[in-house]
Amino acid sequence: MANSLDSVLSELSRARSEFEREVGEAASPADVEAVRVKYLGRKGLVSQLFRYMENVPAEEKPRLGEELNKLKSRLQERFDSISAAAGSKTGMGQWVDLTLPGDMPAIGYRNPLLQVYEEIEQILRDMGFSVETGPLVETEYYNFQALNIPDDHPAKDLQDTFYLEGGKLLRTHTSPVQIRTMERQPPPIRMIAPGRCFRKDAPDATHSPEFTQIEGLVIDRGISFAHLKGTLMAFAQQLFGEHTRVRFRPSFFPFTEPSAEMDVWWESARGGRWLEILGCGMVDPNVFGYVDYDPEEFSGFAWGMGVERIAMLKYQIDDIRHFFENDLRFLNQF
Ligand code: DAH
Repeated sequence: MANSLDSVLSELSRARSEFEREVGEAASPADVEAVRVKYLGRKGLVSQLFRYMENVPAEEKPRLGEELNKLKSRLQERFDSISAAAGSKTGMGQWVDLTLPGDMPAIGYRNPLLQVYEEIEQILRDMGFSVETGPLVETEYYNFQALNIPDDHPAKDLQDTFYLEGGKLLRTHTSPVQIRTMERQPPPIRMIAPGRCFRKDAPDATHSPEFTQIEGLVIDRGISFAHLKGTLMAFAQQLFGEHTRVRFRPSFFPFTEPSAEMDVWWESARGGRWLEILGCGMVDPNVFGYVDYDPEEFSGFAWGMGVERIAMLKYQIDDIRHFFENDLRFLNQF
């Protein structure tokens, strides 16, 4: 039975609008795929419509063929544009709207500890200091003995130091790098040694079992306490501002004689007060004995400071644990 061209053409246009409606209602990639199979699949509606070619009179075949091909390519284009513009099927079978603004990649922030450290390093490099490093796992010799720390010193207590197997320990300060550097080279020396240190401290607002120090050491002929004061005062003024006031208080460390602690005058909303920022002193001649430096010819000064403490002052951070918890709410502020 022959079909009239008109009725076939209106069937085509009905198929076209049905298709548009179904594609419009598709809510997931699977829905879209089902519509595609229904219309463009091997046994889909479009192939069925092509069968009309056999039933129409010969002179109408070209026109019908043209319309069928148009329908087929319209549908195909529609699917192509769905995948390209509105969304596509990802590997995870998820619906991705390519018109949405993209996710910004998370930009990392530098830990304030690192920022303060780098600032300190720059100040001291500009003053002519080199940067030395030493191992975190130390021997008792470098951590205590060569620094003139006696066996009965409380720092050596099991309560205070992390001991490892084979007589090793986690260094409790950066001072061993003084010894390692002096062993490696003759004077003059102008070095700093940054790095992590460890003590068996229960964590609280001002204590952490892991912390960061910067050691400083200057050795040459004719170095006096005046050089120590001048250097550390200039350092404090560059770090905290040119009007920064410092004071030195007598103290004791086994590896320096005399020893002192340096405070900076700190102004805050609650008023001013002296805050200790480092320990220092003239290198004890006994230490020179361990590294074969002649104490008659050379003298020097040393100091050690806690980077967390300085960063806490500078940025008004109230708890040392913030540095190690990696909470983004904290880190993002710097
Ligand atoms: N090592 C000392 C500590 O951890 C700090 C220190 C004090 C280092 C005086 C020094 C110094 O070089 O001269 O408490």
